[in-house]
Amino acid sequence: MEQYAIKGGNPLVGEVEIGGAKNAALAILAAAAMTEETVIIENVPDLRDTMVMLQAMKSIGIQVEKPDRHTVKINAGVVNNLIVEDDSIKKIRASYYFLGALLGKYKKAEVALPGGCNIGLRPIDQHIKGFRALGANVRIEHGLIITEADRLIGSHIYLDVVTVGATINIMLAAAMAEGQTIIENAAKEPHVVDVANFLNSMGASIKGAGTDVIRIKGVPRLHGTEYAIIPDQIEAGTFMFAAAVTRGDVTVKNVIPKHLESISAKLEEIGCEVEESDDAVRVVAAKPLTHTHVKTLPYPGFPTDMQPQITVALGLSRGTSIVTESIFENRFKYVDELTRMGASIKVESNTAIIDGVARYTGASLTAPDLRAGAALVTAALAAEGISTIDDIKFIERGYEDFPQKLQSLGAQIEKVNTERELQKFRLKVG
Ligand code: UD1
Repeated sequence: MEQYAIKGGNPLVGEVEIGGAKNAALAILAAAAMTEETVIIENVPDLRDTMVMLQAMKSIGIQVEKPDRHTVKINAGVVNNLIVEDDSIKKIRASYYFLGALLGKYKKAEVALPGGCNIGLRPIDQHIKGFRALGANVRIEHGLIITEADRLIGSHIYLDVVTVGATINIMLAAAMAEGQTIIENAAKEPHVVDVANFLNSMGASIKGAGTDVIRIKGVPRLHGTEYAIIPDQIEAGTFMFAAAVTRGDVTVKNVIPKHLESISAKLEEIGCEVEESDDAVRVVAAKPLTHTHVKTLPYPGFPTDMQPQITVALGLSRGTSIVTESIFENRFKYVDELTRMGASIKVESNTAIIDGVARYTGASLTAPDLRAGAALVTAALAAEGISTIDDIKFIERGYEDFPQKLQSLGAQIEKVNTERELQKFRLKVG
């Protein structure tokens, strides 16, 4: 019965180290399959999703070593199979990066249809459109996406929606295509830039990542590299909002403050103080929180992956707030759980109308997906009394040592496996 047991009410205070970006790591791991030479990747977060990715790489013959917890050494000199259908890979979204990576290098890939959080339809039509534009055939059979090409030839691709996944996937395949590819209306997220930098460090020629036009000159081969992944914007943002809802004082360390600007701006709007230094951001929530409006948007807008966390905070902010989700169509499922903690939130299609309440009260909760699960943890940390959160496997997909990091900031949270452990927690926290 793995769950988190949480006693709320303690302001979070102190410093916390942020790990490597999950969504960059997942694409970069797949990209490491594009050279026969050894690749060393540092600052890889130790998460369920990265483990699944590495497992899938091993399943097709790639050598994977972990010299330490956050360093991965990969050698894809021998790939004995271009079919990635490992059982657990079906559950993660980023499995689709094997399509771009293997298609680029071997001109063929078969990958299980991607899973991931159930937050909307999540089509992959733009990925497919991109591969086809490069000259590949793409078909779906028996739960696999199969793509192959005799030659990949650079092309001019205009994405119909701004998509991180398709931008990165097309970039991967185009890195080893013949001639130039231009991706227009590309996603600008920091992890798009990180993947481009990684590929360039392997000898690719990619320009413009971080703007909405990316130009890729295909190269015939990529070589080994050593690379460190950027810090995780969403892990950092989650701790920043945890500071706000618990009226705490938290410094997130090892971050790139520029990547956190839209998050910092909203925290300031609702009454927090935010101090930036070179590689840290401090959030102090000394005053009562006040309402605001927010709409999720592609980078540099407010990230959809921070939408549940800000909703939790606005639920405790004076006045009426409005949150509009513009990226995914089904991302408010967690609101029912918050309502059971005393929140007053009405959801109408892609908008949540929030009347701030003075407090939440502890409840038995279930994490509906990764980010909403983390947001419910922050709500429980702010709530009066004890909460339990089930289905923490979702949270563990994206947060390394979450309970331990929160404990180091003074939170009363423990992972419990049995009713007895839960009772022990109750007795301990009183
Ligand atoms: C990635 C992230 C996820 C984040 C999201 C938006 C990973 C593994 N996941 O997901 O955490 O919430 O970016 O920042 O990196 N779309 C299409 N057709 C496509 C692809 C996407 O219509 O072919 C739509 C999606 O339904 C969505 C929007 O485009 O409405 C953005 O999706 P995208 O950026 O691709 O998200 P994911 O790659 O699924």
